[in-house]
Amino acid sequence: MLRPLGLTHGHYECRSLGETLPVLTDLLAMRVVERSDGQATVQHPNTAWRLVVHEAGSGAPDKPHNNHYGVRVARVEEVDAAHRYLVANKERYGLRRISPPRSQHYARSVYFVEPGGNTLEIEHYDAQAVAEGRAIARPHWTCELAESKFPARGYVPQALTHGTLECDDKEASAAFYRDVLGLEIAGGGRLSVYIKHAATPWYIVVLPIPRRKKFLSPANRFTLTLASAGEVEAAHRELRGAKGVTELAALEKSDGCASFLFADLNRNWWEVAA
Ligand SMILES: [Fe+2]
Repeated sequence: MLRPLGLTHGHYECRSLGETLPVLTDLLAMRVVERSDGQATVQHPNTAWRLVVHEAGSGAPDKPHNNHYGVRVARVEEVDAAHRYLVANKERYGLRRISPPRSQHYARSVYFVEPGGNTLEIEHYDAQAVAEGRAIARPHWTCELAESKFPARGYVPQALTHGTLECDDKEASAAFYRDVLGLEIAGGGRLSVYIKHAATPWYIVVLPIPRRKKFLSPANRFTLTLASAGEVEAAHRELRGAKGVTELAALEKSDGCASFLFADLNRNWWEVAA
């Protein structure tokens, strides 16, 4: 089993950084922390999880709805305010498919598709969900981002809370993510199972989808950070024969860093790095 220090990055493919970065910064309160040719790293001020955005050009496909990322607001009425703001600014940001706010299981959320082909979500979780033991509903921030830091929208995204993966078999997937990748099961919804690293609140919703048709490229992946390059090499050896690893790329090493990519039992991509 891998012993990751953290689930540290999500990687996200878009078509054009010029189109997608304003969506992430202006609508989801993320900040660009690194930018190079064809790639940018963004981060929400309340979430150490980083999102690496890869520019793949106009041919990049639309990703399935169940590969979305979501941010959370502190008050339920902010979801409705976010919906109004998204609709009012749809043309400016090139948004598509803005869903009306919907409530289910103590959560209320709005979804939209950004011009890079990715679904994004703005959600609220009722405190009652925490009282009923839903770990993912616990606060993802210690200090609320003030309205003055994200003014004039009527809502303030307070944290990047989750990513989402499709799977074929929920039980087999939960076992793989726990027993092979060393992640923790943080409960589940009616259909889904939530996985996370024990040290941090952000999580991945793993949702069984019958007869999946669209599979992601390696530019859409999650990164597990290990303690050392030596551990990454050992992990590469370990995963070579592991049940549930469907593709394993070569180990890359440079300047004391090591990393590799692999695809899991659901053909979802991961990166292991130090
Ligand atoms: Fe979601």
